[in-house]
Amino acid sequence: MSEAENPISVADGPASATVSSIPAYRALPALARDPLGALVAFGNASRGSVVRIGLGLLRPYLVTNPAHVQHVLRDHSAIYLRDGSGMLWGAVKRLFGEGIMAEGEVWQESRRILQPLFTAKRVDAMVDVMADEIYRAVDEVPAGRVLDASAEMSRIVCRAVVRVLFGDKVSVDDAVRIVAAQDAISASVVARVLAPFVPNSVPMPGDRAFRDNAALIDDILLPAVRRARAQPDGGDDIISTLSRAKTADGRDIDERQIRNDTVSMFASATETSYRLLTFLWPHLKAHPDVAAALYREIDDVVGDATPDRSHLARLTYTRMVLDEMLRLYPIGWLIPRVAAADDVIDGVPIPKGATLLVSPYITQRLDAYWDRPAEFRPDRFAARPAERRHRYTHYPFGGGPHKCIGQHLFYLEAQLIVAAVLSRFRVRVHTPGIPAPRPAASLRSGGKVELTLVPRGAV
Ligand code: HEM
Repeated sequence: MSEAENPISVADGPASATVSSIPAYRALPALARDPLGALVAFGNASRGSVVRIGLGLLRPYLVTNPAHVQHVLRDHSAIYLRDGSGMLWGAVKRLFGEGIMAEGEVWQESRRILQPLFTAKRVDAMVDVMADEIYRAVDEVPAGRVLDASAEMSRIVCRAVVRVLFGDKVSVDDAVRIVAAQDAISASVVARVLAPFVPNSVPMPGDRAFRDNAALIDDILLPAVRRARAQPDGGDDIISTLSRAKTADGRDIDERQIRNDTVSMFASATETSYRLLTFLWPHLKAHPDVAAALYREIDDVVGDATPDRSHLARLTYTRMVLDEMLRLYPIGWLIPRVAAADDVIDGVPIPKGATLLVSPYITQRLDAYWDRPAEFRPDRFAARPAERRHRYTHYPFGGGPHKCIGQHLFYLEAQLIVAAVLSRFRVRVHTPGIPAPRPAASLRSGGKVELTLVPRGAV
């Protein structure tokens, strides 16, 4: 195919330019047709170089090479910032405000307070309670009925994390309502994520849904925050920890920041995990060999027992399946940054104010770094020391100072959920094929996934 025919080939700029670009007349139609597919195609066409994408008013730099990703997220993180008025973060900030999802001093303060709750030691100590909640949540799944996988996964994940992260301050029913509101919010911000230059004062599609659902979340969480501040209970849940924390100069954290961090932590702890698990079931149907290996491992390791901490270290294939799912469906698929100063990445000048698009979804699907990247093959994560990849070839949890604080929790929780479901049930997936992922503020399944859980004894 000649370049003229190829809608997404990368055009070299004039001889003086040092960055290639994809002109708007090619980029926009391709993105309108299939945004995720187009971005991966841009990444493949750029062959590891930083490339600019013409999006009309905005011409972001697409950063896909693992070494360049490390440059932006980790090595030069002091100049590549989340910009609260820019792509994605502008929309995110309307819900989460200043706190752990922001940047600068307030972010630092929130991270300092929250990170100790997520050390491997602390999370390991939560495992027994989490395993118990998961077992009971899976027990309540109506076996033999056609279920919406996303709704069931959301209920199980809420049950798993609400007790360990929010103690008795948020009920599971309220948690499920918050998740539904978050879901509506994530979908409502798509227009603003794609057009960050439109000021908040100009109405856009989705604004009303955003406001209504944000108010619903506040109605549930704000009273819990106010009660915890008025009557401290010394608990180690997120709301109590934030309520008694002090700033570096000894002041109380104000109510707004506690609200912002509570909402942020709630959203990151629930939405990510249940969306990832929803993607899993159609893959098991499409890959009976992987499903068989997974059932075999869970039979061998868990058998008829209740999955608990003693099983986790031996659920190695389950972990490989999760890593492969995170490669294909990194829920935090887009990590934009804005350059706070001039810089150069591998010979490409990046001017102050430039928007950079870093995306694990793209890097993790590029031909240059993965063998047959479109295929679902968990065994690519088998430990093979000779095949060490660059650490930013697979980075579903980001990297550098903003790296996800829930990574360890996610693996334990997801391993326990998969083991709890598959040790008791055979999963029959009714949805044909594999629904394509759909990009919103986070990645979600583009179609409903329906399944039935059949008790193993009945198969
Ligand atoms: C499938 C599971 C998950 C994925 C794929 C994921 C992905 C990510 C990514 C890519 C970032 C980096 C954002 C950036 O650099 O701007 C991040 C940050 C974060 N994640 Fe996760 N996450 C997951 C689960 C969780 C869980 C379970 C929690 C909490 C219990 C959590 C809490 C957070 C928080 C608080 C941040 C912000 C950290 C900061 O800016 O300092 N995540 N996550």
